[in-house]
Amino acid sequence: MMLKLRGMVDPHVHMRDLAWAHKATFASETAAAIAGGYWAVFDMPNTPPNSTSHTALDLKREALAKNALCDWGVYFGASQEDNWGEYAHISGVCGLKIYNNATTGSLLIERQDKREQHYRHWPENQVIAVHAEGQTVLEILDLVRKYRKLTHFCHISTAEELRFLKTAKEEGLPISIGVTPHHLCLTEEDAARLGALALMKPELKTRADQQALWEAVRSGLVDVIESDHAPHTLDEKFSPNPPYGVPGLETTLPLMVTAVKEGRLSEERLVELLTLNAHRLWKIQPDSETYTLVEMDYPSVIDRQDLRGACGWSPFEGMRVYGKVREVWIRGQQVFDGNDVLVEKGFGKNVFGR
Ligand code: NCD
Ligand code: ZN
Ligand code: ZN
Repeated sequence: MMLKLRGMVDPHVHMRDLAWAHKATFASETAAAIAGGYWAVFDMPNTPPNSTSHTALDLKREALAKNALCDWGVYFGASQEDNWGEYAHISGVCGLKIYNNATTGSLLIERQDKREQHYRHWPENQVIAVHAEGQTVLEILDLVRKYRKLTHFCHISTAEELRFLKTAKEEGLPISIGVTPHHLCLTEEDAARLGALALMKPELKTRADQQALWEAVRSGLVDVIESDHAPHTLDEKFSPNPPYGVPGLETTLPLMVTAVKEGRLSEERLVELLTLNAHRLWKIQPDSETYTLVEMDYPSVIDRQDLRGACGWSPFEGMRVYGKVREVWIRGQQVFDGNDVLVEKGFGKNVFGR
């Protein structure tokens, strides 16, 4: 059976490039995104030079305009240098990202009064995406309650966080929830087996947390599946101080299709999680000729040989999955035929304008 998905979006991707081009590039990761079935990917601001000033933002957008193969968006980043003065004139971005707990990069903001300034100054009706774990979720919810700004909670990974956010949704706060395939398909037991290759933030959790995530994905509490694609080289991963992050652009769709095949997820919900909810939350609409055809029954084993992302490894290697991307079309142009990416660098456009 062939499933047609209209405009797959991954709203949480770290493509690297610029000063971290040794990890991956806009060209390599947008090609990987296309092979993974995606129309558009939204890039996070924590790659140096961080997207926390107009200059750095313009540099990134120019590089993306030249090099991206699929469509794209970029987040502006909240910085410790109190950069909220820049927010008034921001356009052409998918949102603001605030890092509230430690992870890869240098954008951590721990003081609640500083977080509040970022919330106060960010324009109404534009998404704020937050990295917030555990009790920090409650601290951010206080700001959402006060400023009513649309807030996307990235990579939610525990039963407790889900309880906080369920209550907040019932209260009517303007929030959305993203969950990653690694928190759905791996647990702390796999972390023991995988070592640094399973080192990411938030960390892998217990089976009970994993169960709670699946329940929340099935019930519709979770809005989007986001890969949090965060490539690092194997050398870096096997170094004494390995960085946090795992790749995921090419494995998200098969892992989710496998859940459908195995009866853990409905096809209808899959469509919401990978396409419709992101369109609604980020107020974007794919062209009518932007779609992905997935052969649902196609079985395979995840193997680094088959991945085109630059880092050349996956924490899901060896897993048996279903689902093969047969065709991807963007704005009336076929960009993938099941084997090859068919467009050149520069084909991809900013979904949010300039
Ligand atoms: C991300 C990265 O490497 O940029 N790492 C990660 O473990 N997820 C940063 C982030 O999303 O927290
Ligand atoms: Zn994060
Ligand atoms: Zn991330």
